[in-house]
Amino acid sequence: MSSHSPAKFTPVAIGLHWIMAAGLALAFGVGQYMSGLELSPWKLKIYTWHKWLGVTLFLLVWMRMAWRSTHRPPALPATMNRRLQKLTEIAHRALYVLMVLIPLTGWLHSSAAGVSVVYFNLLPLPNLVPKDKALSHLFETLHQALNWTLLVLVLGHVAAAFKHQFVDRDQLMARMRP
Ligand code: HEM
Ligand code: HEM
Repeated sequence: MSSHSPAKFTPVAIGLHWIMAAGLALAFGVGQYMSGLELSPWKLKIYTWHKWLGVTLFLLVWMRMAWRSTHRPPALPATMNRRLQKLTEIAHRALYVLMVLIPLTGWLHSSAAGVSVVYFNLLPLPNLVPKDKALSHLFETLHQALNWTLLVLVLGHVAAAFKHQFVDRDQLMARMRP
């Protein structure tokens, strides 16, 4: 995998990485903020925007995975031992899985709560499951738990990136720089 490996991620992969990082941070912050609000028109509005943003990220992650499966990423630095390379691969895979499951459980939660999503007031999305209180509660809990898992993983991911930058000084960050 070394000799044919590109030096950088493609501009599309880099663009999607940073757009999604910003979008996920925003969806996370809005999600935290909105669930503590008293019922009001503002709360309903912000819930709707949270869902539209989340569905957009759901679309983007599928495009990103399609791009990823057809465009080889640069090989990890040879200074990383095999175990660390394997661990990195698993962590990146887990990030992709979470980027799929989080919006999916949000959508399932809304469906089970009996609230259909109309994407940007234009495209009605199907309800994935029938209205069911227990199911709605289950998906809400899952949505929350997966979000906290994402937060922990992303903190580790950012810490790893900073270690590469300031301790290893191996130019890894440059591969993902726009
Ligand atoms: C300040 C925040 C972030 C920094 C500094 C950062 C940095 C990086 C860097 C340098 C890489 C390239 C690793 C390599 O060369 O192999 C990378 C890859 C990746 N990042 Fe981030 N990242 C950040 C936020 C995020 C967030 C919020 C997510 C969302 C879950 C994310 C998901 C990923 C994934 C999935 C990869 C693997 C790309 C692939 O191989 O397909 N990153 N990140
Ligand atoms: C990647 C995208 C998404 C992220 C990062 C995200 C994040 C969050 C977070 C952090 C919360 C607060 C959880 C808590 O109370 O601790 C939340 C709540 C919620 N999310 Fe999402 N979400 C995403 C996508 C979606 C989607 C696509 C939908 C629906 C179509 C959705 C529906 C909801 C609902 C209804 C709540 C409120 C739960 C409650 O009643 O407290 N989310 N989300």
